[in-house]
Amino acid sequence: MNVTVIGTGYVGLTTGVSLAFIGHSVTCVDIDERKIENLLAGVMPIHEHGLESLFEAVRPRLHFTVSYAEAVRNAEVVILAIGTPAREDGSPNLSYLHEAVDQVLGSLAGKLTPTLLVNKSTVPVGTGDRLAEKVAARGLSARVSVASNPEFLRQGRALSDTLYPERIVVGGKPEGWRTLRELYLPLLEQKFEEPFDLPRPRGLAPVKFITVTLRSAELGKYAANAYLAMKISFINEMANLCDRVGADVIDIAGIIGTDTRIGGAFLQAGIGYGGSCFPKDTRALHYIADANGYDFKLLSAVIEVNRSQKFTLIDKLRSELIDFRGRKIAVLGLTFKPGTDDLRETPSLPIVEALLAEGAVVAVHDPVALDKARSLLPASVQASSDLEETLQDAEAALLVTEWPIYLALDGHRLRELMKRPLFIDGRNALPPERRIHLDYRGIGTGAAEAALIT
Ligand code: UDX
Repeated sequence: MNVTVIGTGYVGLTTGVSLAFIGHSVTCVDIDERKIENLLAGVMPIHEHGLESLFEAVRPRLHFTVSYAEAVRNAEVVILAIGTPAREDGSPNLSYLHEAVDQVLGSLAGKLTPTLLVNKSTVPVGTGDRLAEKVAARGLSARVSVASNPEFLRQGRALSDTLYPERIVVGGKPEGWRTLRELYLPLLEQKFEEPFDLPRPRGLAPVKFITVTLRSAELGKYAANAYLAMKISFINEMANLCDRVGADVIDIAGIIGTDTRIGGAFLQAGIGYGGSCFPKDTRALHYIADANGYDFKLLSAVIEVNRSQKFTLIDKLRSELIDFRGRKIAVLGLTFKPGTDDLRETPSLPIVEALLAEGAVVAVHDPVALDKARSLLPASVQASSDLEETLQDAEAALLVTEWPIYLALDGHRLRELMKRPLFIDGRNALPPERRIHLDYRGIGTGAAEAALIT
């Protein structure tokens, strides 16, 4: 099929490359000329596992342009993958999306063949209906229909999540469902040769094709992210309780996670979720509920627990050091999770600020995001790409992001380097054998520490 993808950000580029991989002819559009120039030269705007090699492999079926008119002329499907950043009040800003839709519809005016306009951006319920009204207002309803097709991809695994989905959700009308089924058929049937660096996950269940209304698809996307965020906030509250009653949250996650009704994923306790999706989407869903006269109490609690959870690290540090003034604290990891250089809504920055506010001397390390972080960090922070320098003479190390380099740290060496080998693990990620020689504190792992001490 001829497909156009509007927006070459995370979602748009991943989608475009994946659709080209399963045999479609794909035109990617962006208003950012530099981005298009770079893509034409093979320079990727994002880091994503497997992207460069897949891009190279499908290059003959990928086209790039800044012209909407050129891009939609032959398109059977036009996919909108435009950012919907949060406003101050938590509501998503849809102005970029609407601008793009106006451009697309303007370019479709003279086109005689049918076009399916598919929204992939995360948008408030009712946005698809509004797009359909725009189509109708231009007298295009006979040839242009609207569908919603939310994505569920994770950073770092975006291509794998796209090629090997658990489900594909399509909202709209039956003719739209049919077109999207045809578009995604190779993924639904998993009939393609797996790229060497993107192997098919073992035990992949048959892909479910879920056909619903526009509104259900739109709300379903928020529901998925809010539910996962809720699991994280739930296990984090259990961890806080574990610390008070002397139980171990890892045991608790094992006990509840083996119940298939609950499921074991997203039960890793720590300092909470960050990134470009969970914080934004939970706030947006809360805003949507509020705007529709519904007080979504559970979601308010999920958001509040996540806001405060990062400071459990500081509380644990305070109970050990009492006073931080003039004391060097090493912060390990700045990104919101490993495998990305993304610093959006990362817990590390509020943690650094809180430490500085209490007079600590703060040294930070991150294997990939230091340069990006420099402009966000206060000038007094010591930022180093040398991990040993960061740890040298520190009175505590706070693990914020579970990068592999930190999980390989040797307790014996830390004892030599640090003034006090106090290691507060915000992700419960340091392997147990590496905790020996350290004053180790996890989040909700009190019982495990007691076992090590005796
Ligand atoms: C997430 C969703 O997983 C994805 O489906 C959606 O489309 C976009 O948002 P992403 O933001 O890339 O993807 O990150 P993810 O790997 O899900 O992690 C999100 C955050 O939750 C990270 O900060 C991570 O550290 C935290 N997390 C995750 C936990 O604290 N505990 C867990 O058990 C799992």
